Amino acid sequence: MAAAETLTHLAEDAPIQFFDLKSQQASLRSALEARWSTILDHGRYIGGPEVDECEHKLCEFTGAADAVVVGSGTQALVMPLIALGYGHGDAVFIPGFTYNATANAVLLAGATPVFVDIDPKTFNMDPADLERKIQRVKGNRNLRARAVIPVDLYGLPADYAGIQDVADAHGLRIVSDAAQSFGGRQDGKWVGTLAEITATSFYPTKTLGGYGDGGAILVRDKEVGDLLRSIRWHGTGDNRKESIRVGINGRCDSIQCAVVSEKLGIFEEERKRRIAAAEVYNERLSGKVECQQGRSDEESAFGLYTVRVPDRDAVRASLQESAIPTSIYYDTPLHQMPAFDQFAPPGGLPECEKASREVLSLPMHPYLSENQIHRVCDALLKALQR
Ligand SMILES: Cc1ncc(COP(=O)(O)O)c(C=O)c1O
Repeated sequence: MAAAETLTHLAEDAPIQFFDLKSQQASLRSALEARWSTILDHGRYIGGPEVDECEHKLCEFTGAADAVVVGSGTQALVMPLIALGYGHGDAVFIPGFTYNATANAVLLAGATPVFVDIDPKTFNMDPADLERKIQRVKGNRNLRARAVIPVDLYGLPADYAGIQDVADAHGLRIVSDAAQSFGGRQDGKWVGTLAEITATSFYPTKTLGGYGDGGAILVRDKEVGDLLRSIRWHGTGDNRKESIRVGINGRCDSIQCAVVSEKLGIFEEERKRRIAAAEVYNERLSGKVECQQGRSDEESAFGLYTVRVPDRDAVRASLQESAIPTSIYYDTPLHQMPAFDQFAPPGGLPECEKASREVLSLPMHPYLSENQIHRVCDALLKALQR
């Protein structure tokens, strides 16, 4: 089907939303109300049958061996680090250009974040810089190189093959931060199976968002899934009152699981609409604006559609005059934030710093019409000519 046929047909002048959860809710509301009524009837607000159902559906969609739903995407990152036993003196490599949760997760687990620069075309971790940063850690007696967390920024899977090669050469484990990329694909495989452990988020504006906080950990090894289920409930086993290891309250409630299961029912349709929207953007903008570039064997989940622009403040102001909402993910790289600047590498991270000055995210959601995308592109191209 041509991209334009997949998109909604809306009135020419319908206001453009950056995300649009309202339109989505309209198609789900009656099913969700029926599910909430079921939950109110059975009363198992924590650990209800919706939890197993959601975990089962996540495995079915992605092909992961096991899925463990948790309270947020942040918990989905912290818990695998606890499961792998990382702590003081363990170096975990993360990109410097991502959401702050990636760094917080490492520090909450008691490990040390080591920031890696990004590839300017994909905005994702650069495997060559990962190698350089590992070499630096090897020269530091206080740190051991243990794991790497690639982030699939804006929905585009990281370079898992390149990162795996470097990780294998140094014995590093990989925990993928796929908070933004559920529904992405690489080399014929879904996000959730591209690394041994994958963390994702159900924050409402994510591609598979709930109506509150939530997340999931997808794993290749069922034993790791069982370990994570124990950590999810304060490290307990069958006796919920006795901890056999350290854990946290990492549970996802029945209501969020019901929402996510319902959303999985319309997910494929929404995924195709996001791709169709991105195709229209690509056709209009390629050669004129620098867009995030994936390889031909990968499909972004298009959690966000992001371009680079010179003189971003002026471009943004001009788009705002035309009632086009935009956003910036992210205007400060992690190594320059007060909470993390003690871990800044000498010489900084030039590509992260450049990206943080130039990136601009355009409206992206499954309910954009073709004419709305043309309006965004017209306004952007006009702003760039000023
Ligand atoms: C890259 C990345 N990692 C982790 C998270 C954390 O997810 P949550 O907000 O569900 O804790 C987010 C969410 O915004 C994210 O974008």
